[in-house]
Amino acid sequence: MTSFKPKETAYDHIRAVEWENGRLKLIDQRILPGKFEHLYLDHLPESAKAITDMVVRGAPAIGVTAAYAVVLAARDRYKESPGGWQKTIQADLNLLAEARPTAVNLRWAVEYMRGIINSGISGDPVPRLLAEAQRIHVEDIAANRHMGELGAALIEPGSGVLTHCNTGALATGGYGTALGVVRSGYAAKRIKEVYADETRPWLQGARLTAWELVQEGIPVTLLADSAATYLMKQGKVKWVIVGADRIAANGDTANKIGTYMTAVAARYHKVKFMVVAPTSTVDLSTPDGNGIPIETRAESEVLNYGGTRTSPEGAKAWNPAFDITPAELIDAIVTEKGVVTNPTRDKMLAMMQK
Ligand code: MRU
Repeated sequence: MTSFKPKETAYDHIRAVEWENGRLKLIDQRILPGKFEHLYLDHLPESAKAITDMVVRGAPAIGVTAAYAVVLAARDRYKESPGGWQKTIQADLNLLAEARPTAVNLRWAVEYMRGIINSGISGDPVPRLLAEAQRIHVEDIAANRHMGELGAALIEPGSGVLTHCNTGALATGGYGTALGVVRSGYAAKRIKEVYADETRPWLQGARLTAWELVQEGIPVTLLADSAATYLMKQGKVKWVIVGADRIAANGDTANKIGTYMTAVAARYHKVKFMVVAPTSTVDLSTPDGNGIPIETRAESEVLNYGGTRTSPEGAKAWNPAFDITPAELIDAIVTEKGVVTNPTRDKMLAMMQK
């Protein structure tokens, strides 16, 4: 199959990642919402760079992109050396796995594809690896749709909800995790109002979540991250719904910086807190949040706003891209395998073994 774009349905018309005419096609998320442009990639190193530079971002979308990038590498390495490509591709896989440190879906996808490669493929590896990448892609969308229904069922009809970062079609194979719950919940009239944190400093909420919801015709109200606590105080939201970059074995959750403070504020105001993520985001090999590596990004992302310097020369910045929300602040973790309420190590393990 030379091209592949998974099927779109109601409230689901955006695909961040596609395979088109033998190339990896990505929406360039660095320039949204001002410009809607695609980047076409033919090789693995440029795909790894696209992940590092956040052309594509969001844990599941990074995983899907990585799976297609492995297909590109296999095509190149097989052409160079039909007898030795399984060896020469290993360094490419290592490079790809290092593109970003926190989202475990990246490592998950790379190791899955490495397993297929190491189990032995005879002849041209592209058809087999492409089929695997497409399977990862469609299964991610199916998982998101299912989680959308599971998560929406927890929400009282007519509720307001708050979300942080972008966890939608742009951040996944399609449909979204937390934003998938928003899509399903809005369609089922369980969600009446959607509030989105702008998500400083990269503005995933303002630039991406608001754009995505406007495209789908779902009304959205943006707020500065610092307004979220006051929103809760006013009783405007019943749930905070977020995604995850990695969930440790005990339920501690790494997600976009600011998630932790939102969870603390939610507990104080008796607002419920839901994490929505596929099981490819659950890392049972990391016992708790202390073991999750947190990416620190460039100071320039904080010192500037929209490319304009907003701080004095000489000031420094601290820019952790993620934080850890302890399991005790989470009311429900929703995966495609089911809902874990008040997560603990035992409950997480039981869910993963289903
Ligand atoms: O730095 P980003 O934009 O890749 O961070 C994304 C997030 O933190 C998302 O909430 C997470 O990856 C889940 S996306 C479904």
